[in-house]
Parts: sequence; structure tokens; C-alpha cells
Amino acid sequence: MGMLATLRSVVQFREVELDPVVRRLARAANTDDLRAIAKRRLPGGVFDYIDGGAEDEVTLSENTAALRRLEFRPRVLRDVDVVDPSTTLLGRPLPFPLVLAPTGFTRIADPEGELAVARAAERSGIPYSLSTLGTRSIEEVAAINGSRKWFQVYVWKDRGLVKEMIDRAAASGYEAIVVTVDLAVLGRRERDVRRGFTLPPKIGLDTLLDGVRHPSWTWDFVRAEPITFANVTGLTPADGTTAVSLSSHVNDQFDQSLSWADIEWFRSIWNGPIIIKGIQCVEDARIAVDHGVEAIALSNHGGRQLDSAPTPIELVAPVVDAVGDALEVICDGGVRRGSDIVKAVALGAKAAMAGRAYLYGLGAGGERGVDHVLAMLDAGVRRTMALVGARNVSELDRSLLKR
Ligand SMILES: Cc1cc2nc3c(=O)[nH]c(=O)nc-3n(C[C@H](O)[C@H](O)[C@H](O)COP(=O)(O)O)c2cc1C
Repeated sequence: MGMLATLRSVVQFREVELDPVVRRLARAANTDDLRAIAKRRLPGGVFDYIDGGAEDEVTLSENTAALRRLEFRPRVLRDVDVVDPSTTLLGRPLPFPLVLAPTGFTRIADPEGELAVARAAERSGIPYSLSTLGTRSIEEVAAINGSRKWFQVYVWKDRGLVKEMIDRAAASGYEAIVVTVDLAVLGRRERDVRRGFTLPPKIGLDTLLDGVRHPSWTWDFVRAEPITFANVTGLTPADGTTAVSLSSHVNDQFDQSLSWADIEWFRSIWNGPIIIKGIQCVEDARIAVDHGVEAIALSNHGGRQLDSAPTPIELVAPVVDAVGDALEVICDGGVRRGSDIVKAVALGAKAAMAGRAYLYGLGAGGERGVDHVLAMLDAGVRRTMALVGARNVSELDRSLLKR
């Protein structure tokens, strides 16, 4: 036998994949791989806006580190032939315990932006949260996603504008509002400070050079219609460009006097469930119960606001013990793997929420990148449940984690 024939008998040649996106995504085995690809593809300022956190980024890194530190106590020989990760959230079914977190300015990672993420979320059957500072409008997202979607509210001084947005969300079939309460002022994200990065991005010499080094992003960016805060009426001039930078918008428009009394106001103008996002201690979780909200998201805004804030995963058990069944608890921050979601649920959360995970997918491969990361998270939840010996979410409890 000739050399080639011998080789052929033991090696099978892979088919050549011609689609560059498929090829790129096939090499990404996890969220961190997608992050590395996004880092290569996106201009530095854009990547750092997504990836970075406040000040020393202690909270940013602790969010993931605290999840990774948790050790399982797996049970074996429990017949995991059929594993079912489905659950319920706000009284409705969820195929696996994940919700996509709201992220502002999503079109910076990919021209389709929020539409790409909302389509992928619908395909996975999980809720998508649209940010007040989204770059696709409430109506645009509703037009392409007929399933569960939530609208995240930042509260401006002008309550008329806030009510107008909430009315639009109601008219467009959004299921719940998410009131984010950890952004009285904008956290200091020092990567953005160092790069002079602003939203919307200002074009300087460094931006141009960066653009040349990331030609495909730059080409997409210049071809697409200009990026605006699509939901912020009254701030967008007639030419469609965004008049204000994010930091001046937050400082001028956000209502620093927001308080628990305003939750009653939300109740009076919104018929559906209310989720408070940004609860960071047991006492505030109890007050949320007193105000009758349906759910809270334990969150430090992905480490982008107060540095040295507590990590959400470490709050799950004490908060769930304090609030019982009075409201549902969502754990938001640091989720990179299916096993992170399983840990949050085992501690008592109803679901986890993820932001950067899908943004890395979006930056790495557009809509298909988001599909890829959601498929990995779903499969990761199922695999982890099988390996810890839990057939369904009711079998996921604290006994499966080392104390
Ligand atoms: C680029 C980016 C933009 C964000 N924009 C918003 C926003 O507009 N509103 C909001 O409530 N949270 C926002 N967040 C916070 C996320 O909703 C979520 O709390 C956070 O991403 C969770 O941490 P993770 O990225 O580790 O999953 C943003 C996060 C990122 C990374």
C-alpha cells in the first residue's frame, strides 16, 4: 500500500467550510473564545466599552470568579436518561432558566444590533430585554420578535417621556418592565476614559487608525444607517443623529431623586409584571416584597457601576431565604457557561440573566454568533444537570453545591 492509501485508511478529511462566519464560530468552544474573536474583530474602544467595568474592575472580575469558585457535590446513579431544564418565570414557561439582559447601544457590536439578539432569543425561546438606551426601537424589536420580551426602563426627570415609552411597550406587547435602579449616576469606566471613548463614538485620528485595523467592522459601520438612541424621543434631532453623549444624557436627564415611592407610580401606569434590576442586599429585597413587585434581579450592572459591589451569586441564597415565594429572584452577572446558570438555580434563583455573553457572540459572528452562544449555554445547562444528577430544575438544590 502506498503512503497516501495508508493515510486515507486512518484519516478522514474534513469538508472545507466556505462560509467564514461558520468557520470562525466552529472554532469557538466557549464564551471566552467568542470574547477573544470579538476582541480581534471590534475596534479597541468598542470592545472595551462592552468588556470593561468600573474603576479597578474588582467587581467585574469577582462576578465571574465567584461563580467559578462554587464547587458541585454531584450525585451519581440517578438515571439522567432524560434531563429537562425547563422552568417557569413570571408564571410562564421557559425552556431553560436564562433571560437576556438589556444592553444599551447594541448596534455598536453589529449593525443589526438588538434585532439580531432578539431574533436569536426568540429562536431559543427565552425572553429578550430591550434597553431604554437601545439602538433599535420598541416597535422595531416587536416587529421581529413575537415572543416574550421585556422593556428596561431608565427613569428620567421628565416622567411624561417615561410614561410615553412604557405605553409604547404595552402597545407593542412587551410582557414586563425592568426598572434598573443601580445607575443614579454613571459608573466611571476607566477604559473608556483612557481611550477618550464616548457614546456615540467620536471620530478622531486614533479612531480612524483603529478602524483601518478592523476593516470589516468599519465597513459595516459606515454602510449602516447612523446609530441613534432609538427610543429616546425629544433628544434626537430631525437629522436622525444622536445629539447627546451618554454621560451628559445620564447626568442631565436621569432622575437622581428616584425612590421606592416611584414604584407605586410604575404600578399605576403599567399593567404587567415589574422587575427591579440592581438589588444588592437582603434589606432592599424585603422592601421590594413590600412594594409587591413580581421579581428582582440581583445585579451590580455587570461590574460597570459601583466597584467593590457584592457579587450577585453570593446574594442568591440569603435573599431567597429572606423573600421566600413572595417574588422571583433572577441572578444577573458573570454568566459565561451553562454551569453558571445551574449554580444560580441550585442556590434558589428562578433564572440567570446574561449580558456580555451574547454581546461577545454578536461581536464575533453577528446573529449567528448569538445563536452559537445560546446553543452552548443551553447544552451546558443540560450537560451540567446530567453530571450533577438532576433530572429537572426541582431537583436542583443547595445539596448539589459544596457548602
Ligand atoms: C455593553 C453593556 C451595556 C449595558 N447597558 C445596560 C442598559 O442599557 N441597561 C441596563 O439595565 N443594564 C445594562 N447593562 C448591564 C446588563 O444588563 C447586565 O446587568 C450585565 O451585563 C450582567 O453582567 P454580564 O455582562 O457579566 O452578564 C449593560 C451591560 C453591558 C456589558
